[in-house]
Formats: sequence, structure tokens, C-alpha cells
Amino acid sequence: MNPSSAVKSVGSGTSLYVHVPFCVVKCGYCDFNSYVVEDRSVHDRFLDALDAELRATWRGREVVSVFLGGGTPSLLDPDRLRRLLEIVGRHVPLRECAEVSMEANPESITLEKAIIARELGVSRMSMGVQSFHAHHLKFLDRAHSAERAEQAFAQLREAGFANLSIDLMFGIPHETCEEWRSDLERALALGPDHLSCYNLTFEPGTRLYRDLQRDVVSPNEQEEDRTMFLHTRERLAQAGFTAYEVSNFAGRGGPCHHNDHYWLQGDYVGVGPGASSHRAGVRCTNLKPVEAWANAALAGLPCAGSAETLRPLQRAAEAVWLGIRRTSGVDLVAIEQRLGMPLLGLFEPILASQLEAGWVAFDGRTLRLTPDGLLMADRVGGDFLAVGVAR
Ligand SMILES: C[S@@+](CC[C@H](N)C(=O)[O-])C[C@H]1O[C@@H](n2cnc3c(N)ncnc32)[C@H](O)[C@@H]1O
Ligand code: SF4
Repeated sequence: MNPSSAVKSVGSGTSLYVHVPFCVVKCGYCDFNSYVVEDRSVHDRFLDALDAELRATWRGREVVSVFLGGGTPSLLDPDRLRRLLEIVGRHVPLRECAEVSMEANPESITLEKAIIARELGVSRMSMGVQSFHAHHLKFLDRAHSAERAEQAFAQLREAGFANLSIDLMFGIPHETCEEWRSDLERALALGPDHLSCYNLTFEPGTRLYRDLQRDVVSPNEQEEDRTMFLHTRERLAQAGFTAYEVSNFAGRGGPCHHNDHYWLQGDYVGVGPGASSHRAGVRCTNLKPVEAWANAALAGLPCAGSAETLRPLQRAAEAVWLGIRRTSGVDLVAIEQRLGMPLLGLFEPILASQLEAGWVAFDGRTLRLTPDGLLMADRVGGDFLAVGVAR
């Protein structure tokens, strides 16, 4: 079939997110909608339902990027991975997209799967490595070794991927600054084209969160996390990477268009269990359990478990919350124009307190995090978000 969708640039058009909800193990820190499912027939049912949902929701939109995430898309066996990409490719012209990203895990990606993904239009792979230290990988419940991660990276290159990203985590309980420095060096030695370095967070509902509540683990000292964060920015700048967002660093591969589109509050459609969509101020979130979502999709019923129409102030607050994490900051005047409402007055009190705290800089148009504010990004964004919710 010849897909009818046109292709657009970042911030305009629509992005497609495809959620693959299966994992080899459930990592202790992870609150993403993912499940360990032994029965492979569930994978087939997932693919059937995905096709049905795409047919019902996508309808030839103007596509900017595609992101196949999870969960663990690389866990699908080669035939099913091929089928996944063929299904998506029937609805979206993958080869014409600015970017088609896929998440891969070291324990399940193989050369064969990487070649299939390349052949069928995936242009960028993002691999979750998290740590190169065996004791931290064990603590996080990761299903792979550091050596396997390095081998998998080489296989992705061998398959012809020119744009490879690595996810790492710092601030793991008991992690030392020295260990984090060596993780960064080992990642850099692989020659990635993009890096994401996340400060570990304790998310409600996870094993780690429960351990924290029971005093089985304790978070690292904030000062240590701060040192690791500052070292990351310094070292990656030295290595030629651009910090375009608090946790994301662009090398030769440039920024991740898909995430940039999201942070710029572009429209996106999410398909798969638990995936969210946002179109012109309306946000829907799919049913989370695989079976409930698949039943709805296959019966031709809406897959959304919830939907809300965002008020203009809520949209504005979310635009700041998302955009403030980008190094280029957030253009408040552009948001005012886009949403047709004056904002500066509404944000005045929160802006004043954050300027006083030294966390943001504002030139009358663009709001940016200061170096001190970078370390407080969640708090700063959260305060703006609260203005949108409160009114
Ligand atoms: C969708 S997740 C996982 C993708 C892939 N399945 C994997 O395990 O690598 C994307 C990334 O978010 C990060 N992440 C997930 N939970 C986190 C948490 N609680 N704290 C910090 N980073 C987290 C991890 O670095 C992970 O690679
Ligand atoms: S971090 Fe990745 S592999 Fe681990 S449970 Fe979450 S989605 Fe699955």
C-alpha cells in the first residue's frame, strides 16, 4: 500500500508513538507500562490489535517522526519484529520520516533483528545500557551484562545504524562519582551519536519505591547527584556533545526529533496499551492492560481509557513544563500567540519567585533555566504546571 501521509518538520505535523509493552524482566525502578509475558501468542494478538488501532486512528496524518518504544521492542522475535514494522509501514511512510527511532535492550537485540529494523526503515536505535557496573546492573534488575551491552552496540553498527543513542543512569544508590565517571568514559569509548543520562528517580509503584518506603534502600546524597550531573555536562561538552535538554546530549546524530517535538507540545498519536495521544488540546490515554486494550482495538471500539480537554491555561502551563527543560528555553510570547491568551500576568507570581531563587532567566520573551536551575528542572517545571491545575 502507498501511505498517503505527508511528512512535516519538528513542532508541526504529528508524531507517532508505538508502545510495545513486553519486557524480559521488570526492572526495579521502572514504572512504564510493561509486562513479562511468556506466552508468545500474546505478541501476535498485540500485533493484530496494533494494526486495528492504527487503521482506526492514524488516517494518513502528516507525520514528523515515529518512535517505537516500550517496554522492549527488540524483545519481539525476528518474524514478529518484521511484522510490527510492516504494520506501521502500511500506515506511515517510514523511509520519508525525519526520524524513525526504536528502543533496543542489550539482552534481546541481535544482528538479525537489527538488520530487519534497518531494512524496514528504522533510522535510529536507542539502547538502554544504564550502567557498566555488574553490581549496579544487578541492583537495577537488568537482564544483561556490561559486556553484552558493548557487543550489542557493535552489532547495531554492523547492521548499518549511523545514529545510535545510549541511555545511562546516575544516582543509583551507593554509586560513587568515580563509578559514574567510568560509566561515561565507557559509553563514550563506544562512539555513540547521542546520549541520554538520567538521574535515577524513585517512582511510586516500583520495587525500588517500596524498598525506599521500607528503608531497605536510601537515595544517594543530593550533593553526589549534583556532582555527577555537573561532571556529565562538562565531560560531554568536552567530547563534542550539545546538551539540548536537561538529560539529553546530541552528538553527530543531532537531537532526538521525536522527543523535541513532544517538548515543543507538538501533536502526537500514541498506539498500543497505555499510550497517550495529544491533538489540539485533547489528551487521551489508552487502556493499560494488554488484554483490555487489545479487546477494544479488535472489536473496533475506542482504545482510550480516559480523555480530557485541556483548558488554555493548562496547555500554557504544560508548554512551559515541557519546554523549560530544553536548553533553548521556552518562548512565552509564542505560546501566548498560539493559544490566544495573555500569560505573563498569570505566571507573574511564580516567575518572580523563580527569578529571585536564581533558577530561571527571562528576557521578556524566552524563559530559560540558569545553571542552578538545571539542577531544579523538575521543581521549576512542576511549579508552572501547578498554576495550570490550580485555576
Ligand atoms: C522506556 S525506558 C526503557 C527502555 C528500554 N526498555 C530499556 O530498558 O532500556 C527509557 C529510559 O528511561 C530511563 N528510566 C526509566 N525509569 C527511570 C527512572 N525511574 N529513573 C531514571 N531513569 C529512568 C532509563 O534510562 C531507560 O533506558
Ligand atoms: S526499564 Fe526497560 S526493560 Fe526495564 S522494565 Fe522498564 S521498559 Fe522494561
